[in-house]
Amino acid sequence: TWTMANFIETEIEDIRKKVGTGKVLCALSGGVDSSVVAVLIHKAIGDQLQCVFVNNGLLRKGEAEKVVNLFTKHFKINLDYVDATDRFLNMLDGVSDPEQKRKIIGNEFIYLFEEEAKKLGQVDYLAQGTLYPDVIESVSTKGPSAVIKSHHNVGGLPEKMNLKLLEPVRELFKDEVRLLGKELGMPDEVVYRQPFPGPGLAIRCIGELSMEKLDILREADAIVIEEIRKAGLYREIWQSFAVLLPVKTVGVMGDARTYEWTVALRAVNSLDGMTADWVKLPYELLGSISSRIINEVKGVNRVVYDISQKPPATIEWE
Ligand code: XMP
Repeated sequence: TWTMANFIETEIEDIRKKVGTGKVLCALSGGVDSSVVAVLIHKAIGDQLQCVFVNNGLLRKGEAEKVVNLFTKHFKINLDYVDATDRFLNMLDGVSDPEQKRKIIGNEFIYLFEEEAKKLGQVDYLAQGTLYPDVIESVSTKGPSAVIKSHHNVGGLPEKMNLKLLEPVRELFKDEVRLLGKELGMPDEVVYRQPFPGPGLAIRCIGELSMEKLDILREADAIVIEEIRKAGLYREIWQSFAVLLPVKTVGVMGDARTYEWTVALRAVNSLDGMTADWVKLPYELLGSISSRIINEVKGVNRVVYDISQKPPATIEWE
């Protein structure tokens, strides 16, 4: 009979046989798939696995620290941490077009990853968190969102670097990957993480980016997640996040007039990201998120709630 414990055993054997004494490189994103794949491969071949984690400056609050801690301190996995915040922000300077942002971030990531890989010497395999639905999607027609928004992954890298692919979860669905993560002793915070786009906060900070705007968004986003968690809704919502709009509006504080940014809240339910409906969050929760953001995040004086369905709207605003 098929059990997760059996699956792990078989995969470990398989990975060992395939890799032999070779070296495996894994790009960690902090997401569920790449994290689970890294831990699984590490269980099989230990120090023959080398992970690379690039901080592009577009991550959520505290995320880079969390990833570094979990993988180096807890799992004792070889991790090359690259803080490329300045590089990415320089490349994105003055860019407001969403597809342009994606392209720049995707290219810069591949470029950086290649650079890091070169420093690490001979590598034989590239580990990827490809899931069964990805396998299907790439042989049939691409889903609409893949066409409408170019999705960011490390496509093209293996051929360019002459690497073989190691894809130990390519027969699993997302919920099975989460179970696998649980079985491997990974924390719920990683295993049940809501999806987060590769280009990160860049596509949630509408229009031109700046460090200041990204910091405002990071603070607002942290409050959204914290309040959604406190309300016990984090795991049942597909995605919940803040978007920083390039809109300043008038407000009043004490007896002074303010002129500050607007934050939009987005919370959607979905099965696969292809269609989505906005979540009917309790008014009290909307209220506490709104007042916390306005009171605690400097530079924001207004919060609005996005009540659009996908289609015709998309989940992300860019
Ligand atoms: P949309 O906005 O197209 O998003 O309704 C559907 C799902 O895809 C995620 N998304 C992305 N993920 N790179 C990613 O890795 C991207 O460029 C990207 N754009 C959207 C989005 O968060 C949602 O889960």
